[in-house]
Amino acid sequence: MKFPSLFSPLQIGPYQLRHRVAMAPLTRMRAARPSLVPRPLNVEYYAQRATAGGLIIAEASPVVATGFGNPAVPGIYTEAQVAGWREVVDAVHRKGGIIFLQLWHVGRVSHSSFQPGGALPVAPSAVPIPSEFKAMTADGKVVDYETPRALETSEIPLMIEAYRQAAKNALAAGFDGVEIHGANGYLVEQFLQSRSNLRTDQYGGSIENRVRFLLEVTQAAIDVWGANRVGVRLSPYGIANGSGEADPMPLYSHAVKALDQLGLAYLHFIEPRSSGAGRAEVNWQDVPSAMVLYRPLWSGVLIAAGGFTGETAESAIAEGHADAIAFGRIFISNPDLPRRLHRGYPLTPYNRKTFYGGEEVGYTDYPEHDEMA
Ligand code: FNR
Repeated sequence: MKFPSLFSPLQIGPYQLRHRVAMAPLTRMRAARPSLVPRPLNVEYYAQRATAGGLIIAEASPVVATGFGNPAVPGIYTEAQVAGWREVVDAVHRKGGIIFLQLWHVGRVSHSSFQPGGALPVAPSAVPIPSEFKAMTADGKVVDYETPRALETSEIPLMIEAYRQAAKNALAAGFDGVEIHGANGYLVEQFLQSRSNLRTDQYGGSIENRVRFLLEVTQAAIDVWGANRVGVRLSPYGIANGSGEADPMPLYSHAVKALDQLGLAYLHFIEPRSSGAGRAEVNWQDVPSAMVLYRPLWSGVLIAAGGFTGETAESAIAEGHADAIAFGRIFISNPDLPRRLHRGYPLTPYNRKTFYGGEEVGYTDYPEHDEMA
């Protein structure tokens, strides 16, 4: 039997991928302001990274106005945002690419300066992010995180509806599917983990209750898309944004098993060695591997991300730990990453200073291999 490689085809839901080098969701903070609509610069960026039969997971996009914690992040809740995203999707489709949108709500990883009416951010419970983490306000000041306002039980169905409407909007924009952002310390993960969820209603307490919000959000997306065009991203051992479950195995085993019943397009793990990669160069050693630990509980397609190189991606696939690998930072600086990995071409290093915000520099000006002298 021949083992699959990074460049063998893969079926994801109804889509036939031609290779397994996916683009990870990457916040770049370059949408139009104040509309938070994707603009021609964003179209060009995604088109540069599209390949025939290649999967792009577009950057995390808030489902509602309370879901932001950063400036110039594109939304998916107004008609203009849908129209802006349609231009991105059409450009990716013209190159034969497949593009999912990541649906986001930051919960407590926000500041009142980003909130409608200057209200406090909302979260499962009124527990602030510890003060070793800092928030940045809308006008760029570094401050402690505020204590968020706990959502009333009666508000939770409205939040689920916001995800449902955003899933509909993504469908209207022409996307091929949606991914639920259940990772990195944001709202869905705040519900999952006991340090951020002190609720005493049906959304808190037991593991079953803490997983409920994730399952209801996922089900809302399934109602719109069908299960085989919905993915879920989790970071069981992540420590981003003050997250982290003391004993992740029971919680995440329950979540993965429950998700496995749904027939999703894929499950997407962030490997813990690169938790926090958005903020600093990290490569934690001696940490567990999410894909290795949870693979036995998952019968569908598994995407892994976090600190992969061409070689480690190839071996993760050959050893059966994952079916596809999502690349973040090196996809930023190598628009033709699938081809470079395939041919063994050298990679252009990325410049962290231009990750978040700005214009074309560090965004659409990274050359393809063949354009380099
Ligand atoms: C990220 N990451 C991220 N994750 C996510 O689920 N949604 C997002 O929108 C973002 N945004 C984001 C922006 C930037 C600039 C970075 C560097 C990271 C995490 C990302 O998808 C990926 O998991 C990590 O970057 C680790 O993978 P690499 O970079 O080691 O391949």
